[in-house]
Amino acid sequence: MKEKVEQIKSEALESISKAQNLKEMNEIKVTYLGKKGPISELTTHLKELDEGKKEFGKVLNELKTEISSKIEEKIKYYEEAEIREKLEKEQIDITLPGTKIPVGAPNILEKIIEEVESVFMSMGYDVVDGPEVEEDKFNFELLNIPKGHPARDAQDTFYLKEEEILLRSQTSPVQARTMLRAGGNTPIRMICPGKTYRRDDDDATHSHQFMQIEGLLVDKEVSLSDLKGTMDVVFKKLFGESCETRFRPSYYQFTEPSVETDISCFVCKGKGCSLCKNSGWITVSGAGIVHPNVLRNCGYDPSIWTGFAFGFGAERLAMLKYGINDIRTFYQTDLRELSVFDREEKDND
Ligand code: DAH
Repeated sequence: MKEKVEQIKSEALESISKAQNLKEMNEIKVTYLGKKGPISELTTHLKELDEGKKEFGKVLNELKTEISSKIEEKIKYYEEAEIREKLEKEQIDITLPGTKIPVGAPNILEKIIEEVESVFMSMGYDVVDGPEVEEDKFNFELLNIPKGHPARDAQDTFYLKEEEILLRSQTSPVQARTMLRAGGNTPIRMICPGKTYRRDDDDATHSHQFMQIEGLLVDKEVSLSDLKGTMDVVFKKLFGESCETRFRPSYYQFTEPSVETDISCFVCKGKGCSLCKNSGWITVSGAGIVHPNVLRNCGYDPSIWTGFAFGFGAERLAMLKYGINDIRTFYQTDLRELSVFDREEKDND
């Protein structure tokens, strides 16, 4: 028996000393201390002994204690080594650059529209909406452009149903809708930013879908100088205090007189450059005094009420403000382009 104990002891100690890792140690633990291991086997055997039970029991106990303490000691060593290794691997190098997470940024077109909205809201204007699928009546007829009128040709319209239903070619129909809704007896101040559509071939300055910002003011004794003052405030806000405005005579069916608003070139300050084509001025909107026919068509008595209206191209404003030379930039959703503008904005903040 004693020899057997010695043999188990030396084999166990040898295996323990040869073990290279935690896995091997756990296997040794099961082999020697498990239920089917040699020590357990000898313990069963012990019960069958007639003599020397006590003495042999003691020997077995010592064996078990020694082996298990050696095993636990080495297991502890490997467990600690494993933790140390893990900690070393997980050390944080604070000099490493962080992971850049791309974040969304407001579209610059949205931004300029919001800017225009906030200037007009500060002057008491409402921001209203209108349908993009529109009736011919609102898009043309109520605006003093009857069927067959040559002014229609200028707006290559997408018709959806037999010349009656169309994709609005301008945001001006919202003027008519707003006046009709107001009922002909209250003043109006509104702007309507929105999508418009024309059968244009897309190129650097044309897009079959673009954004306009329509504006309408109806009140008593409204004059061209009110319109001029309003344009002045808006463009100074958008392009800086030194920005001047001027009117040039123009023609629109729904306004009389009609004008084109120019702003002084903010690049060359009027001296002449490629942006303003050496004229010192840049055209930014169509506008005018609301035609009496339009007021009448929309329920306002032109002998009592007067008004002015205007229309901006939102992309044009954004292109001027951010120095973009291709309208398609807005619609190609190229995140790299957008992030450039986002950065420029942040730099300017
Ligand atoms: N709707 C015009 C266009 O698309 C722009 C415009 C000009 C709107 C004069 C107006 C205005 O309200 O008075 O070309």
